[in-house]
Amino acid sequence: MAGNPNQPIVILKDNVERVPGHEALRSNIMAAKVLGATVRTTLGPRGMDKMLVAKGSDDIVITNDGATILHQLAVEHPGAKLVVEVAETQDNECGDGTTTAVVLIGSLMEQAEKLVEAGVHPSIIAKGYNLGMEKALELLDSLAISVSHDDKPMMLKMAKTAMTGKSIENIMDDAANVVVDAVLLVADEVDGKMTVDESDILVKTKRAESMSAELGGVLIDKTRPDALMPKTIEGVRVAFLNGPLEITKTQTKAKIKINEAEMLSAFSEAERARLKAMADKFAAEKVNVVLCTKGIDDQVQYYLAEHGIYALEFVPEKDCSYAAKATGGQVITKPEDIYPGVIGTAGKLVMDEELEMTFLSECKNPKAVTILLKGSAQHLADELERAVEDAKRVVQDAVEDGSYTIGGGSVETELALRLREYAATVGGRVQLAIEAYAKAFEIIPTTLAENSGFDTVDKVIDLRQAHATGNKYAGLDVFTGKVVDMKKQGVVEPKRVKRQAIQSASETAMILIRVDDMMISKNAEQMAHGR
Ligand SMILES: Nc1ncnc2c1ncn2[C@@H]1O[C@H](COP(=O)(O)OP(=O)(O)O)[C@@H](O)[C@H]1O
Ligand SMILES: [Mg+2]
Repeated sequence: MAGNPNQPIVILKDNVERVPGHEALRSNIMAAKVLGATVRTTLGPRGMDKMLVAKGSDDIVITNDGATILHQLAVEHPGAKLVVEVAETQDNECGDGTTTAVVLIGSLMEQAEKLVEAGVHPSIIAKGYNLGMEKALELLDSLAISVSHDDKPMMLKMAKTAMTGKSIENIMDDAANVVVDAVLLVADEVDGKMTVDESDILVKTKRAESMSAELGGVLIDKTRPDALMPKTIEGVRVAFLNGPLEITKTQTKAKIKINEAEMLSAFSEAERARLKAMADKFAAEKVNVVLCTKGIDDQVQYYLAEHGIYALEFVPEKDCSYAAKATGGQVITKPEDIYPGVIGTAGKLVMDEELEMTFLSECKNPKAVTILLKGSAQHLADELERAVEDAKRVVQDAVEDGSYTIGGGSVETELALRLREYAATVGGRVQLAIEAYAKAFEIIPTTLAENSGFDTVDKVIDLRQAHATGNKYAGLDVFTGKVVDMKKQGVVEPKRVKRQAIQSASETAMILIRVDDMMISKNAEQMAHGR
């Protein structure tokens, strides 16, 4: 071969840091364990809260919501990023179970670490985990119980299970009721399948003296700009305008040279007429409410008020289109486009001065509802909103899938037991990996016990025994420490939440286990700092 034999062969650019084989696996195990340990103290109704300082600001977030916590952590490690992605996917797909998913990955990686130390090759571990996952999902299906979408008591139980532990205990019953009513109201059967369109439910929070949760038609965080406008309207005919009700600068800049007082007054006369025409346009169509996403000229406001029309300016576009949907109207861009087909209708409009909100009730399309949450402090309002969002998604999951599983560590204990039985039928080194996979599930009851201040070893043994003697719904009552039938206790969760958590935690663990080389390209700045 020609050339200098001592010349190094450059395969990787010099800005790539290479982490070899076992180092990469160790580093990924560490990352997953750290994240699991970070969120696990929040798991369950008696989990603790975390106080976080939001990224890039001084805002303080107090929460025990796994997704929120991970979102706020600026995670850099590539393996850790994958774990954070699992939490995000879990949140997008199910709206609950994020802590469970992350804790499970941490546990799966911890068990894998023990096997590696015992000399089991990572590819064997990954194989066992894959077999374990397939079996676990199959077992989960057989453990799941069917529920009809209109079974309100069961939906309430699921909503409450999702909300327990958030610091909103005193209004949980109200909130759960409101959430279930809202979801059942907008649920629709499409091609023989129940579906819930999330955008049909708008959640609004407001600071108020006391905490509450209410169901309303449409609410908008605005009040009339002109005190001459009415405060209530019956038989609402509402127009939606995505554009200004004023004469924009470019329109007045027309090249007219005004040099005489007469011309000036004629000009302003013409302008006034144009502004009046805008208001008249709505009155001519018997519109009595105008929602405008941009500004409304003072003069137009005055003319609208003269017609007895209630108007709102600078309504967020999202609220405007939501209100249009709820009232069966359509958003137009200029007053000239109005015709009866775009006008929405509702029974009543009420302006609430204290809350500084406008309510539209008895809307034409009842399949659009707003949940109004009042919180006595901002962080309480925020946590209430997160709890309601979780519960809303959980009820949606259950309505759409029609199936649920039993919580309180019961599913995980049963899976661990059945997976161990399955492992014994496989044999060889893979058996060890499936047993490790089975053991990983016990992190959930262990953590529930730990977070509630009970002895973890005792509780897990009690649970194992209950399940071994056929009580497949036995779980841990985190308030009394007793092992009880969680189905009777009403601690229930949609199957989708468990299924997604098990599947994505297992798949991500397998990916992390199979990695035997990590190459991290540094950016220019990091190179300059010699990192
Ligand atoms: N009343 C209860 N008793 C025992 N366990 C409960 C109860 N309510 C919820 N859990 C359990 O708490 C876990 C969920 O905790 P949570 O903090 O909401 O985390 P995640 O982010 O995973 O949803 C589930 O395993 C669930 O079964
Ligand atoms: Mg939860």
